[in-house]
Amino acid sequence: MNAVHGVLTTRRDGALDVERIRGDFPVLRLRVNGKPLVFLDNAASSQMPQAVMDRWLKYQTTQHANIHRAVHYLSETATAEYEGARRKLQAFINARDEREVVFTSGTTDAINLVAHGYGRKFIGPGDEIVLTHLEHHSNIVPWQMLAQEKGAAIRVVPINDRGEVLLEEYRKLLNPHTKLVGLTHVSNALGTVNPVREMIAAAHEKGVPVLVDGAQAVPHMKVDVQDLDCDFYAFSGHKMFGPTGIGVLYGKMGWLEKMQPFKGGGDMILSVTFEKTTYNTVPYKFEAGTPPIAAAIGLGAAVDYVNGIGMDRIHAHETDLLDHATQEVNRLAGVRIIGMAEKKAAVLSFVVDGVHPHDVGTLLNEEGIAVRTGHHCAQPVMQRFGIPATSRASFAFYNTMAEVDALVAGIRKVQKLFG
Ligand code: ALA
Repeated sequence: MNAVHGVLTTRRDGALDVERIRGDFPVLRLRVNGKPLVFLDNAASSQMPQAVMDRWLKYQTTQHANIHRAVHYLSETATAEYEGARRKLQAFINARDEREVVFTSGTTDAINLVAHGYGRKFIGPGDEIVLTHLEHHSNIVPWQMLAQEKGAAIRVVPINDRGEVLLEEYRKLLNPHTKLVGLTHVSNALGTVNPVREMIAAAHEKGVPVLVDGAQAVPHMKVDVQDLDCDFYAFSGHKMFGPTGIGVLYGKMGWLEKMQPFKGGGDMILSVTFEKTTYNTVPYKFEAGTPPIAAAIGLGAAVDYVNGIGMDRIHAHETDLLDHATQEVNRLAGVRIIGMAEKKAAVLSFVVDGVHPHDVGTLLNEEGIAVRTGHHCAQPVMQRFGIPATSRASFAFYNTMAEVDALVAGIRKVQKLFG
């Protein structure tokens, strides 16, 4: 029986029963270097609850066949479960129509789909693509490749020293040449929560569609694509307690219908001759080949799992963790937090004076603490702050205040070792 249920995950005082929740994550029982694992690398990839693994195994052991292709029992069962997962994702982000949920292999794949499907069709010489300085490489490189191919230009929205986008500068960048705005909902490197609703509205005033990279938002807050009014929203399964190899591109039906397919192959066609192919309807025209069926169903189970806890309560708990971590790390002389935006989610990036982030990461690992060190696939953010790298702690709902304290103690130990 899955332990996730509103009642079971709530303590008498109304707070999340984190200890109970942790019981659902076998990996959190691990000891690393003789210490209990403190997993603070959730922005890179989160852990899966047993319920997701059980669902995956049930599919593999009793429901697996290829989908959309045959009338036999297993194929129809697999198809029903896969399409059921799509509806779970639709409800999770409040898409108007289940067909607006395209399964991809992850956020990167979803953004590349938009770059090819929308960009190659609608962006031409002299056109402009507006990106923020906070973007992950996956929301930069596909656009650069497209811009090079088409003779288009990238325009970058600057950020301030706290790591917040400069909205006035953003508005100035929007002009009749702008063909797309790409912006992250939450910065993976700094944790900044962008004012996406406002930025989308400003783009729409100029008739410009907006793609939101939601990879770091969906695990931490309620996302409603209709309320945001975004044209595209991309996210990954493995950062929201689901399997790797699966993700979602949400797109407004009007755009998805106008877009050209990204990949050609089976299942994305209605008819094929050597002269001509007629493409399948949305979303199938974007899902060429056999998709990761088990992973999609696993992602559906991950949606059930987080819904069982409640996104509002997840957000509240993580806000407490981040506030506590910020306060405690701020107290440490010789440690600087990179990214002090007023609105942040689940990420604490920092540098320790005189210690390379990789050494910080290595020494924390000796204490059983997992953080990511490096440029976090966001080199322009590092360049903006004049640093090569940071150490980054990133939280999930299963993290505890005691783990934040362990991180702070670990940083103190690093400082002591480096004198
Ligand atoms: N995008 C992932 C991260 O921020 C890999 O770590």
